[in-house]
Amino acid sequence: MAGKKVFVTRQIPDAGLKLLKHAGYSVKISQTGRAIKHSDLIGELKTGYDALLCLLTDKIDGAVMDAGLPRLKVIANYAVGFDNVDLNAAKDRRLIITNTPSDVVNESVAEHVLSLIFSLAHRVVEADNFTRAGKYKGWQPDLFIGQNLMGKTLGIIGLGRIGKATVRRAVGMDMKVVYHDVVRDKQFEQQYRAKFLSQRELLKTADFVSLNVPLVPATRHLLSTAQFKLMKKTAFVINTSRGPVVDEMALLKALTKHEIAGAGLDVFECEPLIDCNPRDHYELRMMNNVIMTPHTASATVEARADMAVVAAKNIIAALSGKRPPNQVVFK
Ligand code: DGY
Repeated sequence: MAGKKVFVTRQIPDAGLKLLKHAGYSVKISQTGRAIKHSDLIGELKTGYDALLCLLTDKIDGAVMDAGLPRLKVIANYAVGFDNVDLNAAKDRRLIITNTPSDVVNESVAEHVLSLIFSLAHRVVEADNFTRAGKYKGWQPDLFIGQNLMGKTLGIIGLGRIGKATVRRAVGMDMKVVYHDVVRDKQFEQQYRAKFLSQRELLKTADFVSLNVPLVPATRHLLSTAQFKLMKKTAFVINTSRGPVVDEMALLKALTKHEIAGAGLDVFECEPLIDCNPRDHYELRMMNNVIMTPHTASATVEARADMAVVAAKNIIAALSGKRPPNQVVFK
C-alpha cells in the first residue's frame, strides 16, 4: 500500500528490498556500512515509519519501540534468533515481532555445523596453517592424526529445525545420533534412529555436542563447568546458536585442563568480542583445537537472500492487516 515507510538498519540482499518496493513502500536503508547506533536508530524512527527491518546486532528495546510509536506496527528481525528484541516491551506496546526461520537458512546452518565437525575431526585448519607456513617437509605416518566420523556419536541439544537438518546429514555419514530437547519427537527418533537422552547422559555419551537452542534464560550457560566435566575427554563442542549458551570462561578452563578435546564456535559470549575479558582469557583465540567463524553459519548467498525475502513477506503481511507467517508468539 502506498504511503507506508520501512526503515532497514543495514543493507540486506536485494531480493527482499525489491519485494518491499513492489508493495509500494518507501524503503530507507541505513548506509553507514556498520551496525546502526542505538541513538541513531531512535532518532530515525522518530521521523515516522510503519515497519522496521532490523538485524540481530540491533538492540530493540522499549526506547526504540517508543521512538517508532504510534506509527510503527511491525519489527521484522533479520534472523532466526530474536534475543536482541525485548519481547515483553513489544507485548506491552502491541507491536508485531517477526523472525526469519527458513528451510534454506536451516540447511546453511546445518552445513556449517557439519563443516566445523569435519574440520575439527580432520584438523583441517591446523593442517592448513602448518602447510601455508612452509612447515610440510614430507609425508609422515603421524602428521595431523584426526579421526573418522563414521561410528562416532553426535549429540544434538535442541532438536528444532536446525537440529533436525544436522541429524539428517550426520546419519548420512554413518554417525550415531543422540539428542536432548524439552519435547521428544518419537517419529523423528524412529526415522533417523536418533536416541533421546537426558542432557546429562547426552554429555557423557556424545563425541560431538552441537548446541541448537535459542538463547532464553533457561539456556544461558547451558554448558558450564559441571557440564564440561561430564563430557568425554575426546569430545568436541559445536556452538552455532548464541554465544551466551556456553560459559566461555568455563570452556577455556575445560580446554586448558584437557577435559574436552576442542570446540567449533560460530558465536561468542560477548560478540563481537572473541573473549569477554581478553586480559583474563585471551587464550581461547590461541588454541589450535578451537575453530572459530564470525557468526557466519547462515552466510550463504541462498540463505541470506531467503532471510531478506522472509523478512519482507512478514512486513508486507503485517502492514496489510494479515498475520505474518513468522510472527513471534509472546508468552
Ligand atoms: C540467526 O538467524 O539467528 C543467525 O544467528 C544469523 O543468521
